[in-house]
Amino acid sequence: MTSEGIEKLIRPSLVNFVGYAASKSPETLVGKVEVPVEDIIKLDANENPYGCSPRVNAALATYPDMNIYPDSGQTELRKLLQEYTGVSSEHIVAGAGSDQLIDLILRLFIESGDEVINCVPTFAMFRFFMGLCDGTLVEVPRDDNFEIRVNAVRAAITKKTKIILLATPNNPTGTIIPGQDILQILDTGLPVVVDEAYYEFSGETVAPLVGQYQNLMVLRTFSKWAGLAGLRVGYGMFPTKIADYLLRIKEPYGVNVAALVAVRESLKDKDYLMDKVRAIIAERERLFEELKKLKWLKPFPSQANFIFCSILNGRASELQQKLQQKGILVRYFNQPLLQNGIRISVGKPEHTDALIKVLQQLEEEVNG
Ligand SMILES: Cc1ncc(COP(=O)(O)O)c(C=O)c1O
Repeated sequence: MTSEGIEKLIRPSLVNFVGYAASKSPETLVGKVEVPVEDIIKLDANENPYGCSPRVNAALATYPDMNIYPDSGQTELRKLLQEYTGVSSEHIVAGAGSDQLIDLILRLFIESGDEVINCVPTFAMFRFFMGLCDGTLVEVPRDDNFEIRVNAVRAAITKKTKIILLATPNNPTGTIIPGQDILQILDTGLPVVVDEAYYEFSGETVAPLVGQYQNLMVLRTFSKWAGLAGLRVGYGMFPTKIADYLLRIKEPYGVNVAALVAVRESLKDKDYLMDKVRAIIAERERLFEELKKLKWLKPFPSQANFIFCSILNGRASELQQKLQQKGILVRYFNQPLLQNGIRISVGKPEHTDALIKVLQQLEEEVNG
């Protein structure tokens, strides 16, 4: 069969699927940047610059049972997460990153033609997974400060609406959704997903309400605060009925044994990790002040581990390229509601210093 013939067999809705523009691995930039690959400063994927707990590395180095499949019921993992969250384990399901839980939730609820409300601009993986399940994404724009508009969300509800997606703090804007707004949206009675991937940086959560609401799902991850993005482990807190369905439809061994060991050790080292979280929060505030001093940039206040910044003079794509050449990776956006902006993940103090130095040099170049 020809490759065109094969393509005819692919689901028509996926033939033009563009995929997700993931962050670049530094190795792919060898020869394209002015610094050695090990000196690249990666501020483009909201990763934790301090890495994971050293206890995780030590435990994984001697873990004896890599040959044994993980417990598909996630018994120990869910108990550990119960202790961490205060939400009882029958509400909890873990996934290979919270991405996997977004995928599972949409697969559980969404058929072709079903609608999901999304408060844009927001996390691009919501759109990605909706594309995979043939759902229709109904986009409700946020206001000029990237806050959600509850009335507009309510007005967007139709008979076909199955889920409302909310991210707080939102990626890439860093904006929090006030608890009152979430409650009003929960009162619609529709299933609501509250993605709290950056909870440890904001301190705000609706997790205690899981169990009181039959329509509330809260997602979290170990990627950001615990520095485990590469290991892929996240979790969600759900009404027990939904948790039961998710446990049934998930692949049995989706969360690997290394992830279980890493969660166990991370939670034993919570104080160490939360110290790093506090260091990142302090650095976020310093970065914000430094960015504000540059008159051609407009940083937005953030409750997460990154800052979104509008470029008032010049092109974001060019700025991203120039920074990349100097070995500093950031993410740029140019979409209707995210015009000409970059998102900078908060790094260590020396990363902020290096970034600000390059930005100051660029400013001098522009102003002569
Ligand atoms: C809002 C939001 N949700 C979920 C995720 C996915 O996290 P994970 O690494 O757990 O899949 C991210 C990662 O950037 C995110 O920004």
